[in-house]
Amino acid sequence: MIENYTVCNCKQVTYADIANALDTHKNFDNVLAAFDDVQKVTHCSTGCGGCHDKVMDIISQIMMGH
Ligand code: FES
Repeated sequence: MIENYTVCNCKQVTYADIANALDTHKNFDNVLAAFDDVQKVTHCSTGCGGCHDKVMDIISQIMMGH
């Protein structure tokens, strides 16, 4: 069960959206590439950009769990 909450208010992207987008990402060594992929799928961090660090944190956390 994934903890869910809104990470990006501008684009209404939730933790689960990011986790799901990461599921399709196979390269778990590169956080920046993963961020690009997640951004393409969810459009998170394309508004004010204020959620960028939060999104990065979540991506690295999920990737470390793999
Ligand atoms: S909160 Fe994510 S771009 Fe503004």
